Amino acid sequence: MTPDEQTRADDRRHVFHSWSAQGLINPMPIAEARGSVFWDYEGNRYLDFTSQLVNMNIGHQHPALVAAIQEQAAKLCTVAPGFANDKRGEAARLIAELAPGDLNRVFFTNGGAEATENAMRMARLHTGRHKVLAMYRSYHGATAGAITATGDPRRWPSEPAQPGVVHFWGPYLYRSAFHSSSEEEESARALAHLRDTIVFEGPHTVAAVILETVVGTNGILVPPPGYLEGVRALCDEYGIVFIADEVMAGFGRCGEWFAVDRWGVAPDLIAFAKGINSGYVPLGGVVISDRIAETFRERPYPGGLTYSGHPIACAAAVASIGVFKEEGVLEHVRTLGEKVIGPELRAIAERHPSVGEVRGLGVFWALELVRNRETREPLVPYNAGGGDAAPMNEFAAACKARGVWPFTHFNRTHVVPPCTITEDEAREGLAALDEALAVADSHYAG
Ligand SMILES: Cc1ncc(COP(=O)(O)O)c(C=O)c1O
Repeated sequence: MTPDEQTRADDRRHVFHSWSAQGLINPMPIAEARGSVFWDYEGNRYLDFTSQLVNMNIGHQHPALVAAIQEQAAKLCTVAPGFANDKRGEAARLIAELAPGDLNRVFFTNGGAEATENAMRMARLHTGRHKVLAMYRSYHGATAGAITATGDPRRWPSEPAQPGVVHFWGPYLYRSAFHSSSEEEESARALAHLRDTIVFEGPHTVAAVILETVVGTNGILVPPPGYLEGVRALCDEYGIVFIADEVMAGFGRCGEWFAVDRWGVAPDLIAFAKGINSGYVPLGGVVISDRIAETFRERPYPGGLTYSGHPIACAAAVASIGVFKEEGVLEHVRTLGEKVIGPELRAIAERHPSVGEVRGLGVFWALELVRNRETREPLVPYNAGGGDAAPMNEFAAACKARGVWPFTHFNRTHVVPPCTITEDEAREGLAALDEALAVADSHYAG
């Protein structure tokens, strides 16, 4: 068997994949990857417009991260979480230095779900309240608490879920739940709705509001002016912990260390993962405010993980933060967003009737595809599967045929390449999307 055949055979016989009907998938083996590009075993080249799972912010095989991992592995592969470790401490210090407000301590996890799960646990213990408010258009992870907080259909099969999670509508002007006609109106009405939700749930029962600073998989929804500040004020008014889930939005994706920096808002807890070390070694965590850390000064924190603060994962985080600083990655992301991706996508939208809206920032963009610009009927229905999803599958196939691996979700394609993608590569990928959108246009009925 060739390596390609062996990989496929082992995968099909023995690997059980996430979120999938195991008999209906045929995962493509990746043979090699570098920067923003990967190759299959036949040598076909794909530009990675997904950053894998919107996590590989620094690109594939960055030499500084590879070296840091090799060095740490040679020195000390692992220690139990109860010991102190130089790389763990350094990673925590660097993250605390970058975090807003008095968020000065880090609880490390292995990924994003454990980060949101522990953030909610901290909020409940800190406040002595049990309810958590989360948005309908959200994803917070697949462990018990995190999937309960999740507002999208991935939650449904895990129900009945944990008691005490209440969903609310966040701002989303293009499909406003509040019939708003401007960003200002949407911001004000979404805040009024959140206030009503808090009041009707009983403020004394609400431990936390958790939200993605910029909603990721559920649509790249950038909060309108005043919204995050308003959430901060509501949380202060009612003594509620504000948890920002920055698992996807943080560490460069929005052109900031933390996406909240763009709005100058300091939450009480920030959940992070993905971009912290681009997933070279699994790592996530919660950055904790002094006030909440104080709750656990004399009282033990009732949560832990064997690999909390894994030295190799933390060494990769330290190296990644260093690369961001030395290579000016945040500035590069802002330039890409403002000068290349944003303008190009807006130009693409003018050429294709099926593009209903372009939105995003940094390297975090969505094209919302529609059948009709007037009615805004989505190109495929919400949560479409099987034949209903065919137009999006055809569009994705057209991208792949042009050497671009696209991110698609429901009726949207997201442009989420590594933060380190070059301008030429970004333009190359956008040109391929431009061509592939002819497929979406062919389903346009407006
Ligand atoms: C916003 C957000 N929170 C949490 C998670 C869960 O992270 P993980 O898959 O590392 O558990 C994700 C994953 O996509 C995410 O996008």
